[in-house]
Formats: sequence, C-alpha cells, structure tokens
Amino acid sequence: MIIDLRSDTITNPTEGMLNAMLTAEVGDDVYKEDPTVNALEQRLAEMFGMDEALFFPTGSMANQAALKLHTNPGEQVICDKYAHIYNYEGGGASFNSGISCKLIDGYRGMFTAEQAEASINPPDFYHSPLTSLIAIENTTNKGGGACWDFEELKRIREVANNHNLGFHLDGARLWNALIAKGETPQQYGKLFDTISVCLSKGLGCPMGSVLIGNKELMKGAIRIRKILGGGMRQVGFAAAAGLYALDHHFERLSEDHIRAKEIGHVLADLHSIKKVEPIETNIIIFELHNEVDEAQFLKTLTDKQIHIIGMGSNKLRMVTHLDYTSVMHQQLLAVLRQL
Ligand SMILES: Cc1ncc(COP(=O)(O)O)c(C=O)c1O
Repeated sequence: MIIDLRSDTITNPTEGMLNAMLTAEVGDDVYKEDPTVNALEQRLAEMFGMDEALFFPTGSMANQAALKLHTNPGEQVICDKYAHIYNYEGGGASFNSGISCKLIDGYRGMFTAEQAEASINPPDFYHSPLTSLIAIENTTNKGGGACWDFEELKRIREVANNHNLGFHLDGARLWNALIAKGETPQQYGKLFDTISVCLSKGLGCPMGSVLIGNKELMKGAIRIRKILGGGMRQVGFAAAAGLYALDHHFERLSEDHIRAKEIGHVLADLHSIKKVEPIETNIIIFELHNEVDEAQFLKTLTDKQIHIIGMGSNKLRMVTHLDYTSVMHQQLLAVLRQL
C-alpha cells in the first residue's frame, strides 16, 4: 500500500466521477456550446452570487487571467511573500501581465489591512509602479492551509475601496476554508472582484479551475483565456467531474481536516520534530530538529511506502485528500509512532 501525502492534487477520479464524465453532454466550448461547461459556470456564479464564471484548465491560468484583468503593464500587485501567484506560477505575473509584486512579510501567508495599506505606492509618485491590485490566497498553501479571518478580509476590502484597487482571491483551496470556518461562498462573492477556485485539489477532479467575477471585469476574461491558450473544445467531460465533485466531495473535506489534525498530534510527540505548525485544514507543515537529516527522514518514510515532500529549511509537508483512506491513516499513524 502506497501512502502518498505529497499533495491533494494526486487523486484519481472516483468511479462515480468517471461515470459522470463518460455520460456528459458536450459541445465546442470555444463557441460556448458545451452545455456541461455552461452548467458548471452558471452553478458557480450562482453559488458565489456573482455575475459570471469561466472554466479554465488550471488554477495558475485562472489566476494569471485575473492579474491581467486587473492590471496594466508596469503596475504592481500587493501579495504575501508566500503567495502562489508570486512563487509558483513560473513568473507569470511579469511574463503575462508585465507587472511586479510588492511582497508583504505576513504570517503564514496572511497579512493585515494595515500592512496592505502601507504597501500601496502613492499614485502621484510616478517613480514607483502604480499599485492596482491586492491579491490574497485562502487557504494559504505555503502557509500550511491557514484560513484568513473574514473580518480582516473585510478591512482589506475597505483599503482596496479607499484606494480604488482590485481585490482578487486565489481560492484554489477556498473549499477547505469554507468547511473549516463554516463560511459561505456568497460571503466571499460579496467581498472580492474576482475569485479563482480549483476543482483539482481537495475536490478530487483530474483538472479544472473556474474564475468568477462580475460582468464588467469578466468582459475581457474569455479573450485573455484564448490568448493564454486556454480555450478548450469538448471540455464538458472535465466540467462534469467538477459538477459531480461539488455534489459529492465538498462536505467530506472535514474528514481530511480531522485526519490532518490527528497526524499533527502524533508528529508533535516525536523527538525528531521541532515544531508542527497549527493545523486548520488538510495541510500539515512541520520542522525537523536541526541535527535531523531531512533526506534520511524522508528515506525512512519512503522505505515504508510513505511519500511526503520537503519545503526547504528542514520543513516538510503532508496533505490529506480524497484518496487517503482510513486504512492508510491507521497505517501512517502506526509508522509515525515508531519513528
Ligand atoms: C494556492 C494555489 N493557487 C493556485 C494553484 C495553481 O493550480 P494549478 O496547479 O491548477 O495551476 C495552486 C496549486 O497547487 C495552489 O496551491
């Protein structure tokens, strides 16, 4: 039995999901004639109480399209130093939109309204890039699945309003935050100008992300998606997986969260581990003591068919997910207790 906890993106479609995909009604989505894609887009727009939604192959492309929608070349986006848009999208912000990122030194990928305000360049000071957007991530990936305090997000919205800035949410794992905090998509739809959500992470789809926003902003989204090479044809097969996942794989995320916390408790008792970061959702980040060799620690686990990943600086990450079963969980806890 292989226990793969490197990421929640490693899941395979379930039988039910595959059936939904096989029986999907499809059409050419570049002509907007795919009924299943249209149904998914409409469902997500309604779910968030926003005007429009657009299906993308990946979360990176949906985020990159959002950056482009909100900015002009030479301008600047404010984000945390851990942000996926800055660290893990191949430098797309500069490549696709010609913008720079002003990084905030936040806590676990999150920052305060005061930090956001202090990062805005005065618009009349033409030596600096013009600030046009604030982007946040919920849950934070590099921040260990941390969830934002919704009241802080409201305060950041006010800052964005006062300075006429856009507000984008990278919600690749927003589903996990909604479950963990008992929040609703509508709350988020009211606060943000654009929201990207991923179907290929906790929800267990093989692909797919959706960018959601209001009419005025989303007008250019389909053109940008085309430019980025993301106009797909009979992609309703993938959208059907998304519709299935929203019905069957959303509420169960709480199981992933419970298991992640149980793993965290066991890790906290191990003498080789210095610190386990707080666990709110499905991501567990922990740090080894300086004298513990990371490669050796990873090898000990790999020899027992357990796969996790290093994050640098003696930190390691595990992510619980749909394909991580209760049998695997018991096996993992037993192995960890013996380390
Ligand atoms: C927070 C966050 N945003 C965006 C993405 C990008 O998603 P994709 O891999 O579909 O491009 C990821 C992927 O892991 C992510 O963790």
